[in-house]
Amino acid sequence: MLTTAPRGTKDILPGEVEKWQKIEKKARELCHLYGYQEIRTPLFEHTELFTRSIGETTDIVSKEMYTFTDRGGRSITLRPEGTASTIRAYLEQKIYNLPQPTKLYYIGPMFRYDRPQAGRYRQFHQFGIEVLGVDHPAIDAEVISLALHFLNSLGLNSDPKHGGLTLHINSIGCPECRARYRDKLLAYIRDNIDQLCPDCRSRYERNPLRILDCKQKQCQTVTKDAPHLAEYLCSNCDEHFTAVKHYLDLLNIEYVEDPRLVRGLDYYTNTAFEIISTSLGAQSSICGGGRYNGLVEACGGSPTPGIGFAIGLERLLLLLPEDTTGSYRPDVFLLAFPGLSYDFAYTLQAKLRKENISVVMDYLQKSLRSQMRYANKLQAKNVVIIGDEELETGTVTLKKMDSGEQTRIKLDDLVNYLKK
Ligand code: HAM
Repeated sequence: MLTTAPRGTKDILPGEVEKWQKIEKKARELCHLYGYQEIRTPLFEHTELFTRSIGETTDIVSKEMYTFTDRGGRSITLRPEGTASTIRAYLEQKIYNLPQPTKLYYIGPMFRYDRPQAGRYRQFHQFGIEVLGVDHPAIDAEVISLALHFLNSLGLNSDPKHGGLTLHINSIGCPECRARYRDKLLAYIRDNIDQLCPDCRSRYERNPLRILDCKQKQCQTVTKDAPHLAEYLCSNCDEHFTAVKHYLDLLNIEYVEDPRLVRGLDYYTNTAFEIISTSLGAQSSICGGGRYNGLVEACGGSPTPGIGFAIGLERLLLLLPEDTTGSYRPDVFLLAFPGLSYDFAYTLQAKLRKENISVVMDYLQKSLRSQMRYANKLQAKNVVIIGDEELETGTVTLKKMDSGEQTRIKLDDLVNYLKK
C-alpha cells in the first residue's frame, strides 16, 4: 500500500509532464485568443452543489462521487466536474456584476469513482470553458469551434491516423419539450422493459433519456426505432438548434446530428455535443458539453443562460502522436574538481542562475568521469569545466555537448557566450 498509488490515479513523471505543459500552454493561449479568462475553484465543494446541479439520478451522483463527512460534520465531495463549481463561484463572487457575458476557462483534476480502464481514471484532468449570460446561438458555435481549434492545433482531426474526430450534436430542448418527449419514450419502451439491461431498467422510471445512449446491445436494440427528441422540440428550441447549425456552417465546421446524444448530466438544455474519436475504443468521447439555461437559477441565481464544454486531458494524450520535444535540458552542467574549485563552481552556479542561465552541478562528490556521464544523461547543452589550471588563468573550458567542440574562454566572457 505504501508504495502503490490508489487505483485509477497515476503519477505524471518528467518526460511525460512536458506534454502536459505543452497542452496546458496551448489551452491558455487559445482561451486568451477567444477572450476567456482563467478561474481556479476549490477541489472540493459542499456535496449538495453537485447533487442539485448534476442530478440525483445521474451515474455521477448516484455511483461515482468521492463524498465524505469532514471533521466539522459537513458533507463534502471532491469535484467530479468543473461546471457546478464555476456557477457557484459566479454567484458567490458576484461575477455577474462585472461586464457581461462571463467567459471563463479552467484546467485541473476531477474525481469520479469510475471503473478504471484505458482512458478512464478516478482522478483525471479536464480543460473546460463556460460562458454565462449569452443565449445567442452564435456563442454555441463559438464554444464548439474553440474545442475543435484546440484539438486541431495539437494535430488532431477527422483523419483516422490523427485521432479520427467527429463532432456529434443534438438538441435536448427545454424542460417542457423534454417532458413531452419523455412520455412518448416511456410509452415506446414500455412493452420491452424486461429486455433492458439492469441499469436501464432502473433508468426507465428515474432518467429514461439516458437509455438512449446506453452502450449495451440489448438496450440499443430496444431503442433502435425510438422517436427522436428533435421531433418534439418547441418552436423556440427548434429555432435555436437550426441557428446553431447555421453558425457551425458559417465556420465550416462539420457535424453529425445524433438523436441519441443526451449527455450524462441533468443540467443540460438545448444544444448538446460531444467530440468522439474512433481511436479510443470504449471511452470514445474526448470532449462533452452543451447548454445549461436553467442551472444558474437552480443554484439560487437569477435566470442566466450558460454553455460550455470539457475535454478529458488523459484521453487527449492517448491520441497525440509521440512527442519529440523531449524533456528539459539544462543550459550548463558545471563540472568541478572536488576541493578547491568546488566552492568556486558553487558560487558561479548561483551567478549564472541570476543571469537566467539554467545550471546543474554535482552534489554527490562524484568522480569527474561520473559527473560527465551524469551531464550526458541530463542532456546538458554545455559542460563548463573548472579545474585548478582554469582557476589560475581566470578561464573555463566549455564543451558543447551536441558537437563535442571544446574551447577555453575567459570567465568574464562566459555569460555573454552562453547567452549567444
Ligand atoms: P463529461 O462528459 O462528464 O462532461 O466529461 C467531459 C470529458 O471529461 C469527457 O468527454 C472525457 O473526455 C473526460 N472524462 C470524464 N470522465 C472521465 C474519467 N473517468 N477518466 C478520464 N476522462 C474522463 C462534463 O464534465 C461537463 N462538466 C462538461 C461541460 C462543461 N458541460 C458544460 N460545460
